[in-house]
Amino acid sequence: MQAPEPPLSDGVVHLRLWGPADVPAIVAACQDPEIPRWTRVPDAFTEKDATEWVATHEPKMRAGEELSLAVVAPAGEVLGAIALHIRHQGVGEIGYWVAPWARRRRVATRALVLLSSWALATLPLSRLQVTADPGNLASQGVAERAGFRREGLVPAYAEIKGRRVDRIMYSQLAG
Ligand SMILES: CC(C)(COP(=O)(O)OP(=O)(O)OC[C@H]1O[C@@H](n2cnc3c(N)ncnc32)[C@H](O)[C@@H]1OP(=O)(O)O)[C@@H](O)C(=O)NCCC(=O)NCCS
Repeated sequence: MQAPEPPLSDGVVHLRLWGPADVPAIVAACQDPEIPRWTRVPDAFTEKDATEWVATHEPKMRAGEELSLAVVAPAGEVLGAIALHIRHQGVGEIGYWVAPWARRRRVATRALVLLSSWALATLPLSRLQVTADPGNLASQGVAERAGFRREGLVPAYAEIKGRRVDRIMYSQLAG
């Protein structure tokens, strides 16, 4: 898989590859307990974790497993993260977080619209998913605002940090 070229942008948010210079912003954002609460980000997220995390993106992208992008403002400030994971047989899944300093400004919605439109138009995907914890109303609001269809509760859908969890499933289908 290759990153979108030119990088995706709607003039308000830009999606670009991560680099080592982003580590301090990633660490700062992930100190907010809401990010480890609802995502796979570990509870105590250090500079070493962020450095390793950034370094894994390139090999995962080359292997066609994952496309992980920084969501940035026009001036370059890191606003959040968004990633497309290729699950199996034409199914992709998008996850995201937004830094506490950039929330409630439609950053996640904009980033999700950009990445999902590109992925469905460009990659051999039949189905794109967003899954959210039943208690994560913010993430469900993002999926709905970005045009994903709510399919319902999928019991025991994922394992996150050693726990089997239910997920609310959202989808967009190709075509
Ligand atoms: C979920 C998250 C990504 C939302 O990012 P955001 O950029 O603030 O979201 P948006 O501004 O695009 O919100 C779009 C819609 O989602 C809903 N929403 C967003 N934040 C919300 C909140 N805190 N509570 C309830 N609804 C919320 C609203 O419907 C909102 O539309 P509105 O602004 O017209 O009310 C952000 O809160 C976050 O990073 N949370 C922690 C990590 C996380 O939960 N990741 C998703 C895991 S599945």
